Amino acid sequence: MAENYQFETRCIHGDGGFVEGHPYGAVSVPIFQTATFAHPGIGKSTGYDYSRESNPTRYELESVMSSLEGADDSIACSTGMAAIGICLELFGEGDHILCTEDLYGGTVRMFESIGEKRGLKFSYVDTSDIDLVRKNIRKETKALYIETPSNPTMRITDFAEMRKLADEFGLLILADNTFLSPYFQKPLQLGADIVVHSGTKFLGGHNDVLAGFVCVKGKELSEKLRYTYKTVGCSLSPFDSFLVLRGIKTLSVRLERQQENAKKIALWLKNRPEVTEVYYPGLEDHPGYEVNRKQATGAGSMLSFRVDTVERTRKILESVKLISYAESLGGVESLITYPMLQTHGDVPVEIREHLGITEDFLRMSVGIENAEDLIKDLEQAFQ
Ligand SMILES: Cc1ncc(COP(=O)(O)O)c(C=O)c1O
Repeated sequence: MAENYQFETRCIHGDGGFVEGHPYGAVSVPIFQTATFAHPGIGKSTGYDYSRESNPTRYELESVMSSLEGADDSIACSTGMAAIGICLELFGEGDHILCTEDLYGGTVRMFESIGEKRGLKFSYVDTSDIDLVRKNIRKETKALYIETPSNPTMRITDFAEMRKLADEFGLLILADNTFLSPYFQKPLQLGADIVVHSGTKFLGGHNDVLAGFVCVKGKELSEKLRYTYKTVGCSLSPFDSFLVLRGIKTLSVRLERQQENAKKIALWLKNRPEVTEVYYPGLEDHPGYEVNRKQATGAGSMLSFRVDTVERTRKILESVKLISYAESLGGVESLITYPMLQTHGDVPVEIREHLGITEDFLRMSVGIENAEDLIKDLEQAFQ
C-alpha cells in the first residue's frame, strides 16, 4: 500500500509494505538467487518466470527507485552504460539528439560509435545557454540529452527552460541524474521524460557494485524500454540488486555528509594560491548557482579544480594518501580523477580542449571521511 512517507523513509522502506511480503518477516530483502521460477500450472505464473526479465530482489529495488525519482517505472540494469544503451533503442535512423557538451566521456563514446553506426546523429552544445540549445534544434531532432551538473565542468542546465523548448519542438528529455541523485534533484518532476543513472555511484555508494537505472514516466516509454531490456538482457543480478538496495538505505545521510565535506574542500581550494579555478555549484559565485538552487535541494559532492602547473597536477595525483587516485565517484571513499586521461580519455582532443579538460584539470568525488583529514591529505599533496 502506497504511503505518503518522506524521502529518507522511502530510501529504506520504499512506499511501504515490503517486509510484510518477505518470507519469515525478513527485514532485509532476501536475495532470490535463481535464474528461473516454476510455474504453478499451465499458463500460470507466480508473477516471476525468468530472472532476465524480472526477479523479486530486483523488483524491490526498482520499486524503491520509482518512489525516489517519482517514476512510473524504473528498470535496473547491469551498469549505467547498459541503461543509456537501452534508451538509444527508442530512436531510429536519421534521428538527431542534442546533448550537453561535457557529458561523461563513456556516453560520448557510445553515442559516437554504436549510436552513429545505427544512423543516429548527435551534436553537443553548452545546454546552460538556452539560446544556443534553441539554435541547434534541427527538424530531425528528437531529444535533448542532459547532464546537470555537467561532467566534469559542473555547468548547470535549467530544466524548466529545456521543457519549454521540448514542448515547442516535440522533443523527449533524457537526463543523467548520476551526479546529484534523487536526494538532491528529481528531473522527472522538473520536466524530464527519462532519467538515467549510473547506480554504481551515489546509489550504490560504496564503490563495490556496478549498476544502472532508467526511470520513466508513462506506460508507452516503459513498455518500449522493458522490451529492449528483456531482449538485450542487461539485467542487474539479484545479489547486485541487494547491494544497491542496501546502499540506497543510507543515501540521505551519506549525501548530507559528502556535501558538507565538499563545501569545506571547495572553500579551502579557493583560498590556495596554487589553485586557479574551482568548479562547484554550491559556491555562490558559480555561474549556475541560482539555477541549481531553484531546481535542486543541494549541490552534491562533485567538484573540479585547476592548478597552476601541469607538474603540480601530476604531483597531487601521485601524492594523495587517503584520497585514492581512481576513476568513478559517489562512494563513501574520496576519489580524485584526471579527466583528461580517464573519464574523458576517449573524447577527441579538440573537444576536450574546447571544454577546458586539459592537463591542469582535476575532478574530485568527496566521500564521508573527516573533512579535516581530507584537507590535510590535499595539503601535503600540494606541497
Ligand atoms: C555521469 C555518468 N553517467 C554514466 C556513467 C556510466 O556508468 P557505469 O560506469 O555504471 O556504466 C558514468 C560512469 O562514470 C557517469 O559518471
